[in-house]
Amino acid sequence: MYNKIDFSKIDLTAEPPAEEPARQYYYIAKCRQYVKSASERLGRTLTSTVVTFGCQMNARDSEKLAGILECVGYQMSDCEEADLVIYNTCTVRDNANQRVYGRLGVLHGFKKKNPHMKIALCGCMMQEESVIEKLRKSYRFIDLIFGTHNIFKFAELLCTMFESGRTVIDIWKDTDKIVEDLPVERKYPFKSGINIMFGCNNFCSYCIVPYVRGRERSRSPEDIVKEIKTLAADGVVEIMLLGQNVNSYGKNLEKPTSFAGLLKEAEKIDGIERIRFMTSHPKDLSDELIEAMKHSEKICRHLHLPLQSGSTRILQAMNRRYTKEQYLSLAEKIRKEIPDIAITTDIIVGFPGETMEDIEETIDVVKKVRFDNAFTFIYSKRTGTPAASMPDQVPEEIVKEGFDKLLKTVQDTARNQVARWQGQTLPALVEEQNAQDNTLLTGRLSNNTIVHFPGDASLIGRIVHVRLKECHGFYYMGEAVETPKF
Ligand code: 5AD
Ligand code: SF4
Repeated sequence: MYNKIDFSKIDLTAEPPAEEPARQYYYIAKCRQYVKSASERLGRTLTSTVVTFGCQMNARDSEKLAGILECVGYQMSDCEEADLVIYNTCTVRDNANQRVYGRLGVLHGFKKKNPHMKIALCGCMMQEESVIEKLRKSYRFIDLIFGTHNIFKFAELLCTMFESGRTVIDIWKDTDKIVEDLPVERKYPFKSGINIMFGCNNFCSYCIVPYVRGRERSRSPEDIVKEIKTLAADGVVEIMLLGQNVNSYGKNLEKPTSFAGLLKEAEKIDGIERIRFMTSHPKDLSDELIEAMKHSEKICRHLHLPLQSGSTRILQAMNRRYTKEQYLSLAEKIRKEIPDIAITTDIIVGFPGETMEDIEETIDVVKKVRFDNAFTFIYSKRTGTPAASMPDQVPEEIVKEGFDKLLKTVQDTARNQVARWQGQTLPALVEEQNAQDNTLLTGRLSNNTIVHFPGDASLIGRIVHVRLKECHGFYYMGEAVETPKF
């Protein structure tokens, strides 16, 4: 493992090794020299910040970037006036791209004040050719650009950036490579995401993810179990297994295995108290998984099951490969087998050709399934996806009317669902002090609902029993009733 590596012992007069991760260890050692001499010249420690846009996968990638940056000698900070700022971007909807362009203008201002400053960009947005063109032309102050497939090369790319003094751009179209054992700097000491697979093979017609994250690749169960054991030994009590479509985990491995099988292995690991996962595609959710969840003490009572639309006609155009009725019967089966589960979802409004009747079908599903929460998105046209060239882009008035009506239904059903636990005492993992009121702690229930309650910061990272006194829509106010169990 990397944490046993003594980087000062790596011979930098030798050629860099060809194999990974040894090659990256070599470049980490080399970067350490550049950072050390720059900080000696400036008479201060160099600072760095990683800004994450987008999903949990990106958040995990950012922890890997931060792990390398710490290793090479940067002090991590939250301030964007740092010596090295890296934006880990998202491109799932266009507003994520626009936010990045807006903030780059601000970074440029900082760079004019600090000529030593370096600016790097990576993540999904960088996999789009039109983005790279625009950056090359109009954002020439950027020092390093790379994509999703070569993030494991970050140390090597940093090194090239230091050595060349010019903008370094390295984007791969795809990869089948998975590099293990690189440094990671976790945001939370007590919980961690774990990539179990990369990419997506589903090609939902609106979605850019398969084009920017590539084909589905699963990590081996042995590597995943090894990583979880290391995390448990390091004090992690809650893990989240991450993939675009975790239900198809293991299908492309040499020795095919199932996601439910992986969960059962993860459960056996001492020290891990809670297991979450994200995201499930309804078409692949197996009875084996429902059974595994039902009988598990550790798998959390939460399932994120993106619906996208409740209209069978639109689902077909979206290439989702299930009907309204199939989704409803799946949700019903899950609720019957695991009555205390919270089901959350993603919904898109304004897919090409969608009418108010289609949106009514979606609203009908929301009422029938009674989601604990639903993330509602306005359809965003993504160049290169099949939906982008579909006729009948939906008029703005219909999108607005449908979106507002859907949101209202979601809020009403979610309030009733979340309030089901009022008055009960349930275990919550304490995550942080409340940002507005530091006498309050914020904890998360197994079903993913948040509870705020009075308590001391020493409880952060512990599982505490909390009485849920008042439900405020999507969260609770509560009080701790018991000392933690460990
Ligand atoms: N427009 C709007 N929402 C989208 N999503 C994915 N692609 C698009 C798009 N082009 C939403 C889906 C997915 C979530 C992560 O983002 O609901 O589940
Ligand atoms: Fe996109 Fe569909 Fe893959 Fe999810 S399952 S990442 S929505 S293509």
